[in-house]
Amino acid sequence: MRLSYFHSPDRVPGEGMGDAAVVIDVLRATTTMAWALHNGAEAVQAFADLASLDAAADSWPAERRLRAGERGGQKLDGFDLGNSPLAVTPEVVNGRRIFMSTTNGTRALDRVQSAPLLFTCALANRSAVAARLLSEQPKTIWVVGSGWEGAYSLEDSLAAGALIEALLRPAAGVAMELVQLAGNDEAAAAHALWLQWQSQPEQALRLASHGQRLQRLGDHDADLACCASVDTLTVVPQQCEPGVLQSS
Ligand code: MLT
Repeated sequence: MRLSYFHSPDRVPGEGMGDAAVVIDVLRATTTMAWALHNGAEAVQAFADLASLDAAADSWPAERRLRAGERGGQKLDGFDLGNSPLAVTPEVVNGRRIFMSTTNGTRALDRVQSAPLLFTCALANRSAVAARLLSEQPKTIWVVGSGWEGAYSLEDSLAAGALIEALLRPAAGVAMELVQLAGNDEAAAAHALWLQWQSQPEQALRLASHGQRLQRLGDHDADLACCASVDTLTVVPQQCEPGVLQSS
């Protein structure tokens, strides 16, 4: 396996595609998706734009759908949900499809929608995603951080490093080495970032510019703690049809 890390969807090469793609948006889209599917949502359907979201949601039975919309860290008016992992409780999401659009995370998903195998990852489920990749053994893995409007984001790179660390753990008695796994310098740098912050992930999220944005908006302490928790979930969100993620 060779893993390349791209810190924003804009960095993904225009040509070709990995055998597997993993999209990360720790703050907060892929954390929210993992919790929603863990709590019984039928699926999360991701949209880069709101007009397509509305058209798809309108064609779904009202009692089995929820609209989740976020821009700039804030819930969109008229939507059932914003993008908080704490809001997707079993009572709210069980059996429902979540039609979701966020500032960066759903755009990153859209960019690698054509990957033969597509997962989403957060700190909460990074070991589960790593175990799945180890069992599937794709030759090339493209890990895509959502970033912020094209810019680097600390928290997504941190989680890419956490995923790499889990992939380096001995599996079946054989340990893979970073020199074999890292397909580009960004992957090696993400791993170094994780080694630096692994004992204080929440501090890293609070230092990150989007973590600071959420703190400025106020009332996000519980979200930050939830997004910083590592290996709390075993769910692996997997794309089953373009844009549609289900628990696997
Ligand atoms: C995004 O897609 O940029 C986010 O998940 C932002 C957020 O809601 O914190």
